[in-house]
Amino acid sequence: MIDLHTHILPGVDDGAQTLDDSVAMARVAVDDGITAVVATPHRNPWTYTAGVAEAERRLDEVRAACREAGLAIRLILGGEAYVAPDLAEQVRVGLALTINESRYLLVEWPFEQYPVYSEQAIFDLQVRGIVPLMAHAERYRFLQRDVQKVRALVDRGILIQVTGSSLTGGHGPEPQKLAEALLTSGLAHVLASDAHSAELRPPILTPAYQRAIELVGESRARAMVTDAPEQIIDNRPVDLPPAKPPVQRPFWAFWRRSNHV
Ligand SMILES: [Fe+2]
Repeated sequence: MIDLHTHILPGVDDGAQTLDDSVAMARVAVDDGITAVVATPHRNPWTYTAGVAEAERRLDEVRAACREAGLAIRLILGGEAYVAPDLAEQVRVGLALTINESRYLLVEWPFEQYPVYSEQAIFDLQVRGIVPLMAHAERYRFLQRDVQKVRALVDRGILIQVTGSSLTGGHGPEPQKLAEALLTSGLAHVLASDAHSAELRPPILTPAYQRAIELVGESRARAMVTDAPEQIIDNRPVDLPPAKPPVQRPFWAFWRRSNHV
């Protein structure tokens, strides 16, 4: 398995704080059967502003420390960009980092609302050949209220990352419900951990992978933890699941439900 979304770089955001933290996270990942992790430090204008050179330097330190600890794991650089009107420009000048310098950019949105400039930001990325991968889609309140919004984004070429711990209930009922709906509707492309530490939010994927098998079968589950992440790292097109049409309820469904209460 490949974990495409982790905060394993030490001292650059709210993830690992020390090199020991990073190695502890890598150990958890290896024990879970993860062979590669992408370090995706937050980058937004207010709090997290580590530059590329700094991120590369720290990643090299983590690689060396993992080698020393005997951990066989591939460490790859990416970033978690924050949606902004000038996001395409941030990519151009090397402030927002795509995954392994591919066309794929992990992008996060505010949890409560979908800013009006999002559409233009997506368009500007796409005309430059960048494919946005929406981070932890199931956690946004604006999508929990309306899953069809996700379908509209996917139809426009956006990829969707779901967080493993959401699928297994770790972030509460609403994210879990949306995570399940995204998988069963064919609207989820990547399952990742969004790990921040070895203990509280660890880099593990097996429980979510098992749940995904129950929901969508082994082949699709594997695609989300292995095939699609590999395609993204290698800058190849991602095999898309067939998006299923929304379930149409008969017009009398409400009447039937209310009579069974
Ligand atoms: Fe994250």
